[in-house]
Amino acid sequence: MRDTFYVTTPIYYVNGAPHIGHAYTTVVADALRRFHSLRGRRARFLTGTDEHGLKIEREAAARGMKPLDFATENADRFRALWPLLGVAPDDFIRTTEARHIAGVQKWWQTCAARGDIYLGRYKGLYCVACEGYKTEKELLDGGLCPVHERPVETLEEETYFFRLSKYQDALLKLFRETSFIQPETRRNEMIAFVEQGLEDLSISRTSFEWGIKVPGDPRHVVYVWFDALFNYRTALEADPALEAFWPPTVQLVAKDIVRFHTVYWPAFLMSAGLPLPETVFSHGYLLSAGRKTSKTPGQGGPAAVSYTTNPAKLVGALGADVLRYYLLRDVVFGNDSEFQVPNVIARARAELAETVGNLLNRTLPFVTRVFDGRVPSVDAALCGEREAELVAHGAKVAVDSGALWETFAHHRAIELCLELARLGNQYFDTQAPWKLAKSEADRARLGTVIAHVLAVVRTVATMLAPVIPVKAAAMLGQLGLQLEAREGHDAWPAALTFVPADTVIAPGEPVFLKYDAKTEAELLAALKADAPAVATPAAPEAPKVDAPVAEIAFDDFAKVDLRLGTVLSAEKVPKKDMLLKLSVDLGEAAGPRTIVSGIALAYKPEALVGKQVVVVANLAPRDFGKGLVSHGMLLACGPKESLGVATFDRAFAPGTRVK
Ligand code: MSP
Repeated sequence: MRDTFYVTTPIYYVNGAPHIGHAYTTVVADALRRFHSLRGRRARFLTGTDEHGLKIEREAAARGMKPLDFATENADRFRALWPLLGVAPDDFIRTTEARHIAGVQKWWQTCAARGDIYLGRYKGLYCVACEGYKTEKELLDGGLCPVHERPVETLEEETYFFRLSKYQDALLKLFRETSFIQPETRRNEMIAFVEQGLEDLSISRTSFEWGIKVPGDPRHVVYVWFDALFNYRTALEADPALEAFWPPTVQLVAKDIVRFHTVYWPAFLMSAGLPLPETVFSHGYLLSAGRKTSKTPGQGGPAAVSYTTNPAKLVGALGADVLRYYLLRDVVFGNDSEFQVPNVIARARAELAETVGNLLNRTLPFVTRVFDGRVPSVDAALCGEREAELVAHGAKVAVDSGALWETFAHHRAIELCLELARLGNQYFDTQAPWKLAKSEADRARLGTVIAHVLAVVRTVATMLAPVIPVKAAAMLGQLGLQLEAREGHDAWPAALTFVPADTVIAPGEPVFLKYDAKTEAELLAALKADAPAVATPAAPEAPKVDAPVAEIAFDDFAKVDLRLGTVLSAEKVPKKDMLLKLSVDLGEAAGPRTIVSGIALAYKPEALVGKQVVVVANLAPRDFGKGLVSHGMLLACGPKESLGVATFDRAFAPGTRVK
């Protein structure tokens, strides 16, 4: 396995708003990126928008808009959706950006110099929704496109051709001898397709304007698929350091565009002399009442769907992690799957709240009450068969689920995590810690049991981090832990991983919503397709955006001395509900500083000890009276009851300048 990982999604057409199908592919890509980062690999994830072509030109005209304005409006809707879903791409490319246009023209010239592009004439049946020609054989009765079930149009034009036929044998060899196409069913389909014989491909258009000009012949625009496919490459070309990511490790697509990615794309790359992607993985469709969910008008059929499939609305009601969990856990990757809102809630209730969350919630009170808020240690002499079984099962799950993620079977990897959490709950039930807690004589045994259960929670939360990043971090936070993803460090558990004895836990509100019958009914009502957008119990607070502050020169910014500090101790300030008094090491010879911070409603003092925070180090001291003086300020954001302090995703020496 390479130590770099590069995952891509298709770049989405901007003729409408994003829907749950787009969200699906993109969430999977994000989870894969997070998994591989956790393994310590240099990981990169690209998504973006496909903005040229007849389809966009026509839609924009129908709205009386310039194509670029129309494209920008919709590209922004895609870009804005990803953070709502907890999706964090490393780059978002638009095919109308200069970096992409220049790249496509360069690769066109490279293929032309190889003798693979020539001028000719083409007459064919064109599906505007696919942006592709169809053969008579492929059409459904009535001359309809087999993908979109809409009429095709006859186009005749002078066109540049790409010598696709020249690559037929090389493609067959690629398909047969490597795992370039996954899963197997798609590979067999593509072998059969190429075996029928490949004709050269028309890769320019003169019938419309909205595209990249063919170098040296501005009457032609580059065929939108030649243009779009190269995005995966052009997105890396501005920065030489990104070359290490080429070729892509895995390119995710649904079956509608497998042919473009597994026949045309590798042929273009062979011609361009570029190494080929390791795998193109074709997943199934998310279906809504049996039909592919889609934004193409007229495709969704009659309103048989009673629940919304609008991703923003789903996230607003359920939270991003619940939706992500369903998409990654319920849908067998590679198969079609019916998207059903009641099932999203059922899984969240039974698996997240009642299995994983419950294990955490029922265990922490013992740590608080019996062990003074510190994780107890394991007494090896008191470990028996049940503990051995738990440890062995934990190790097996850690190894097996890691392997399943590596082979695109994340739905099965998640199932194994669930199994481990169920075993943890059974262990809890059979060991009955509430009975052990009654007698001081059983204290060591109780500590051993609790330590084992916490190990299950830690291991499961770590393995679920790619799926439910916010909730996993919250669970680990309650265990007094932070997830550390950094290059070169494999943070995926190799075994059942214990929480170090004496770690100070930080119990808080339950991490998962408790789904009682009333909450569930309210959620379902809010998610009815025709329901107005209402706030529900799980809805995240509407973000309040602070007013912008006047621009400053860099020199002004540089006057602020931001430093990394390690919190050595923290305590409440008597009679001041909001304030904590911290001792923070800034690596200074004079010793740690006292900093008073208004974060007491959001943090228990113990939860801050050991944390690395960002400190404004040259702020004038502030006198809080009674001899309490603050020498600096912590950076934080959010409402006062739930704010977060700024910290880094890896450790640095105290005193390191933040700039
Ligand atoms: N612009 C092209 C892709 C160019 S890539 C160089 C395109 N765009 S699209 O907006 O139609 O997006 C298609 C992709 O969106 C699918 O391949 C799939 O990844 C995702 N999905 C769209 N609808 C989907 C479902 N109903 N179910 C699952 N995935 C879906 O094609």
